[in-house]
Amino acid sequence: MSTQAPIRRNTVPQIAARKGGDPIVSLTSYHAHTAAIVDKFADFILVGDSLGMVMHGMDSTVGVPLDLMIMHGKAVVRGTQKALIVVDMPFGSYEESPKVAFRNAAKIMKETGCGAVKLEGGARMAKTIHFLVERGVPVMAHTGLTPQSSHVMGGFKTQGRDESTWDAHREDARAVAEAGAFAVVLEGMVEPLAAQITTEIDIPTIGIGASVHCDGQILVLEDMLGLNPWTPKFVKVYGQLGPMIEDSVRRYAEDVKNRAFPTEDEVYR
Ligand code: KIV
Repeated sequence: MSTQAPIRRNTVPQIAARKGGDPIVSLTSYHAHTAAIVDKFADFILVGDSLGMVMHGMDSTVGVPLDLMIMHGKAVVRGTQKALIVVDMPFGSYEESPKVAFRNAAKIMKETGCGAVKLEGGARMAKTIHFLVERGVPVMAHTGLTPQSSHVMGGFKTQGRDESTWDAHREDARAVAEAGAFAVVLEGMVEPLAAQITTEIDIPTIGIGASVHCDGQILVLEDMLGLNPWTPKFVKVYGQLGPMIEDSVRRYAEDVKNRAFPTEDEVYR
């Protein structure tokens, strides 16, 4: 009798094979119960290091520690069954050398049970991506606006406004694809550049603020739910959870003050 459970989750090769096909649906998630909802619709779920800003009130993703990524990664894996789970490698956990990157990627995969990791950077990370993939770690790359480098970039700026930078961005995408990444996030990039890269490389491009021409899209869940105090302009907001929570908490506070709770008789009847 086989002791192996059947693989039900979307796999890395299945996502890679979607190049040029049906658009790939993805969202971030950091929490078991919201991930269970997202799992019904998403091909992959990213446990993004944006959780530092969205959940933990940090100013940037630079301060996010590896253990925090692992904690949220575990929660999302527990809460889901179908989507491929990709966990971000946080700043400082992979840039130093391919060996350091492998050690930390292996830790993330072993401790969370995720199916792949994501790291930021183009041509400069190609050697590391190749090293990881050769050793069994599937890698999603991330180029264009790379928030972990926001201090070098001088903020969160749309990339490619100056056409003289396009060749460097195209080279970044080509390099990560050739190194073995199975997909690449293009963040904050002007539309014609994202479109050009999408036609030039043979792995899926996943856009966030990088036009409809990408092979798939990703958004930060809390942004599209209207739960963040500030939302980037490119985000289409599908819900207004912030105001809903405020209204619910206000009504709860009123009930507490008015002693308007069910009586013991009503609860245990
Ligand atoms: O950390 C994150 O949420 C991300 C997405 C913006 C792609 O990397």
